[in-house]
Amino acid sequence: MVRTSLTTASPGETLQVAREFASRLQRGDVVALSGELGAGKTHFVKGVCEALGVQSAVTSPTFVLLNRYQGRDSRGEELLLYHLDLYRIKSVEEIYDIGYEEFFYGNGICLVEWAELLGALMPPARFDIRISAGEEERRRHIEIEQVGSQLPHLRTAKVRSS
Ligand SMILES: Nc1ncnc2c1ncn2[C@@H]1O[C@H](COP(=O)(O)OP(=O)(O)O)[C@@H](O)[C@H]1O
Ligand SMILES: [Mg+2]
Repeated sequence: MVRTSLTTASPGETLQVAREFASRLQRGDVVALSGELGAGKTHFVKGVCEALGVQSAVTSPTFVLLNRYQGRDSRGEELLLYHLDLYRIKSVEEIYDIGYEEFFYGNGICLVEWAELLGALMPPARFDIRISAGEEERRRHIEIEQVGSQLPHLRTAKVRSS
């Protein structure tokens, strides 16, 4: 299990951490973000999207549950990014209605705010990003952990065989 813990002192630093994290992502990856309202989850998603070539504005899809953005992978090929915000979800069945197979098991990259609300329905192989407020106003603690079966050596094998 790979875990990184770091602290940022401004929204800009969180964007930067997210941009660097984005370079670890591959097609099919799922990123689960947790943390209180205002923790910085959407900021983190923005940084990832920016690094992956998304040109459109990234905002929390609170009222639509899901936003899709067009980005680019490291080869310059088109890459879809799915951004979910489950804060207002009333029942987990709502994710079936919006086509969870496409965003959880397709070949884009899926970022989920309030992922903990889905419990065991979240794909087990994923990155967990936990953001919490620090002692000072603009300080945030960010923990990044890769969980589930996609261990680094398997991920490399997957890339080679595709
Ligand atoms: N270090 C930091 N990292 C991220 N956001 C920060 C930081 N310090 C202050 N903020 C502020 O916290 C808020 C985070 O908002 P947002 O990303 O929408 O949170 P969430 O999606 O978790 O509800 C923004 O207003 C941002 O300016
Ligand atoms: Mg948000």
